[in-house]
This record gives sequence, C-alpha cells and structure tokens, in this order.
Amino acid sequence: MFLTFEGIEGCGKSTQIERLAAFLEWRGVKVALTREPGGSPIGKSLRSILLSESYAVAAETELLLYAAERAEHVAKVIRPALARGEWVLCDRYGDATRAYQHWGRGLSRESIETAHAIATGGLEPDATIWLKLGAEEAVSRARLRNGKVKSGEGRFEAEALDFHRRVEAGYVHLAAEFPERIIAVDGSGDADSVFTRIVAVLEARHAIG
Ligand code: TYD
Repeated sequence: MFLTFEGIEGCGKSTQIERLAAFLEWRGVKVALTREPGGSPIGKSLRSILLSESYAVAAETELLLYAAERAEHVAKVIRPALARGEWVLCDRYGDATRAYQHWGRGLSRESIETAHAIATGGLEPDATIWLKLGAEEAVSRARLRNGKVKSGEGRFEAEALDFHRRVEAGYVHLAAEFPERIIAVDGSGDADSVFTRIVAVLEARHAIG
C-alpha cells in the first residue's frame, strides 16, 4: 500500500500521518514513514535549498528540483520499501507538484506531468488523503506554529494568502480529476476528530480492517 498525504501548509497532515503510522504499527503493519521534500539523503540537502528564504528560485528551477528529489526518493526509498512489502506513508508527492507548481506558480500542467513521469516511472499512490482546510485557517495555523520561519524553512509560508488560495483550489480540481484515488477529509477541528475521520475513510475503502 502506497498512501500519500496532501494539503496546504497548516492543514495538519504531518501530525496525522505520524498518528496513522503509529496506529498501523500497533496493528502489526510494517510502515515506512517518509516525506517530500527530504525523504532521502540527497532529498534532505535539496529540502534546505527548496525551503530556504535566502533564494528567490525561478519556478522552472523549483519544479526540476522537486522532480530530482522525487526521483531519488522513489528509487532509493519508496520502491525498495514497497518491494519489502511495507506500507509507504508519504507526506506529499505528485499532487503537491501539481497544486503548487501548476496552480500556485502557473507552470503548464504538461511540464509538471513530464517531470513527474520521469521522476516516478509512473508510480502513483494507491490512495491519497487530502486534508481539506480553507487557506485563511490553514495559513494562520501555520504562522502560529512559526517554527519553519525560525528554522529558515519559511519560503512557502511567506507567500501571500492568494497563493495558498490558488494551491487549495488546485487540490479541489485534483480531487475531482482523480476521484478514485484522492479522498477528501475535513481538516477542521481538533487533531483527534480529524484522525477519527481518516481511520473511518480508510476502513470504508477496506484499506484497513
Ligand atoms: P512540507 O514539509 O510538507 O511543509 P508543511 O508541513 O508546511 O506543509 O512541504 C514543504 C513545502 O514544499 C510546502 O510548502 C509545499 C512545497 N512543495 C512543492 O511546492 N512542490 C512539491 O512537489 C512538494 C513535494 C512540496
């Protein structure tokens, strides 16, 4: 099972993916918990470039760096874990590139799909949990958290609200485009309620029993 988590900054996906990993392990499932950017050694170095506020990165550079980090991640981490029979839980994957680099930055969908196809060799998740949350609420949560800014990883948090609105609208489009794969989960409310919703949708799809 290859499961990805998606949503805008502050939607709560990192908290929820960790909870789900712990829950599955407790039920005896072998889990590989990973993330983009940063899930491989090269990916960690690329993450610091991609999220640093010190660079004003051209949109095309950004796309290709995300694609490079994904290629490494798929080859060195995701495919090997799937081959060992583990469940791969990945915090962001291709939909983030579609939502951020196409809807957010305005690059063509075609160039995104080409870069993504080179990076993945066609590997798509079995299911994607999209934590749906309005841009205003998500961004104010993310800014409250504020750790990213201190750690120098605030390049996306610093974007205007309008950018985050476009990204959220991108996820709305993607959920309509891939209704079989993308499962929308209401990301509002406390972490316990959101987690209960996630377990319920996975049970409904017989992903967990
Ligand atoms: P992440 O570490 O998930 O940050 P957060 O927990 O705040 O959501 O992701 C870092 C940033 O990278 C995030 O702002 C979105 C961006 N991103 C892209 O623009 N394109 C991509 O393909 C990926 C994987 C991430």
